[in-house]
Amino acid sequence: MTATPRDNGMPILVRPSRDEDVEAMLAIYRRHIRRGVEDNVEDSGVPDPDDVKDRRKNLRSRRFPHLVSTLHGEVVGYAYVVLFRKRPAYRFTVKHSIYVHHEYLGRGIGRVLMSALIEACAAAGFRQMIGYVDADNVASLGLHAAFAFEQVGHLKGVGFKYGKWADSIIVQRSLGPGSTKPPFQAALR
Ligand SMILES: CC(C)(COP(=O)(O)OP(=O)(O)OC[C@H]1O[C@@H](n2cnc3c(N)ncnc32)[C@H](O)[C@@H]1OP(=O)(O)O)[C@@H](O)C(=O)NCCC(=O)NCCS
Repeated sequence: MTATPRDNGMPILVRPSRDEDVEAMLAIYRRHIRRGVEDNVEDSGVPDPDDVKDRRKNLRSRRFPHLVSTLHGEVVGYAYVVLFRKRPAYRFTVKHSIYVHHEYLGRGIGRVLMSALIEACAAAGFRQMIGYVDADNVASLGLHAAFAFEQVGHLKGVGFKYGKWADSIIVQRSLGPGSTKPPFQAALR
């Protein structure tokens, strides 16, 4: 568990997610969808709680970090990774997602979560992290820049929401030795 004294002195804690966190994570996700941050603008795009539980267990059993941040014991954000691509050659590269509760934005929670996610992914032996960020998502682009993610691609018109086409920015960061050294023999078979 990671602790930090941001947010008016109250520690923001980070720990692996649990089954009982699923409803809180979905509530955070739904709110961001309704505000149009995600590509889905319909609630029908929101996963079912059981889907989230299964996905979370799957990710954890395969050593993919799936974290929540809490403040006063309440889940105020979450972050996780999935494989970037399923083919074995890409087993050292993950794609991440991060969400902070809408009432707790701008208080350092995203920073604490991202730091813990990067640390956990590096410790698990992954070497590259990739994210897809809406081109107009200033907060997310700012957060990624703060963690030395490089903007490596600009996908044009790949989303459609609120009646207009949306671009995505691909961000990438290496972990540990990145591509300067071969992977550990035993890692992530
Ligand atoms: C992106 C997101 C996770 C940031 O979380 P947060 O807790 O508000 O971010 P923090 O307060 O920890 O800020 C960390 C850094 O991010 C950047 N940042 C955060 N909000 C920003 C904003 N509105 N504008 C510009 N930069 C911003 C800053 O660099 C900030 O560092 P600083 O406070 O030292 O300046 C949050 O806005 C969110 O959940 N957005 C909706 C979901 C989403 O877009 N997820 C990412 C999908 S790719």
